[in-house]
This record gives sequence, C-alpha cells and structure tokens, in this order.
Amino acid sequence: MSKVPPDLRRPGVSRRGFLQGSSVVAGSLGMAVGAAQAQEAPASADARTITLTVNGKARHLSVEPRTTLVEALRDTLGLTGTKIGCNQGQCGACTVLLDGTRVNSCLTLAVMAEGSEVVTVEGLADPTGDLHPMQTAFAENDAFQCGYCTPGQILSAIACIDEGHATDAAEIREYMSGNLCRCGAYLNIVAAVEQVRDAQKG
Ligand code: FES
Ligand code: FES
Repeated sequence: MSKVPPDLRRPGVSRRGFLQGSSVVAGSLGMAVGAAQAQEAPASADARTITLTVNGKARHLSVEPRTTLVEALRDTLGLTGTKIGCNQGQCGACTVLLDGTRVNSCLTLAVMAEGSEVVTVEGLADPTGDLHPMQTAFAENDAFQCGYCTPGQILSAIACIDEGHATDAAEIREYMSGNLCRCGAYLNIVAAVEQVRDAQKG
C-alpha cells in the first residue's frame, strides 16, 4: 500500500445494470437505509452523553469514553452502512466524514466527535431517494463486487474530489490508497471518481 497522504493523517489516526433490489448493494450505496432509531446503550458508570449531528439530524447518545465513533454509529444509532474491516486504521472500511474531513471512525473516539457533524453513507442520498452522484457513478462503473468496502470508498471518493486531489488517475489512486478493496475493484473505482470529477467541472 502506498503511503498515506498527509491530509488523511488526523490526530489519533496512525495510517489509514445497477442491482437495485440487492440488499447488499443497496446497503452499500446507502439506499436501503433502514437504520434503527437511536437505541441508547445501557448506561454505565463511565457513560457520558454526547451530541452529534449525524446526516443532518442532532443525535444525543450515551457512550463510554472508550467507545469508538464507528461503534457509536453502528451499535448505538443503528447506522450499519459504515463497515468495520480491520478495526485498526488500515483498511478504510469505516471512513466517514467528520466536519467535512474523512476519518477512520474506528480510530476516532465518539467523545472526540462531540458537537461535530458526521456524514455516513446513509446520509448521501437526498430525501427523495435520489442517489448522490458518487453512488450513481459507483453503480454505473461497476466499482464494487461484494460491496463491503464500498461505503468507505464512496465517502473517501467524495472527499478526494472536494480536497482537489483527483487531478488524474495517479493522484486519485494515491489519495484513495487508504481504502482497501479485497475484490480489487480499483480500476472501476478510479473511473467512478473521474466521472464525478468531470461532471462537477461541467
Ligand atoms: S480502517 Fe477502520 S475498520 Fe479498517
Ligand atoms: S467490493 Fe468487495 S471489498 Fe471492495
């Protein structure tokens, strides 16, 4: 794996025909949100209440100091679109946007995100259900196989363009290098990023 771009290193982070109807694909693309409403974990002596804005909605949740952001999203808020791969900052499966910056949510403590805005794959489609352009581009370019890495890839791809790091294929590869795909969909992932980049240029 090539080196992790500097902008992916954050405090506490050591590295880094569309099948509508398929639950795997739909989940990966954030279509079948189906997220449970917040089910707060049983309070413990160490638990504290934090407030996050998740996909545009204020959420209050009880977490322990050691609870990671991905655990809070998946286990407490029921937003299981964000995946856990390595759980140690090496695969990017857990990538979400935190105040607009991509982070590995497995290496981010939930309490560190207090007051922040979090965007997960469930928050990308608009309220009418129209997919985010990057979700559409992934589908159109067959940029996934099993789809497990896809939510993290999509969030990272959106950030890659927003950061201005999608000038050419080589740069896209470099700045997507923190997101591993065991299915090897990299060629098509790059194509998807290029499609959205070009569309945004008009
Ligand atoms: S980087 Fe977080 S699960 Fe792999
Ligand atoms: S599509 Fe299977 S891990 Fe990437």
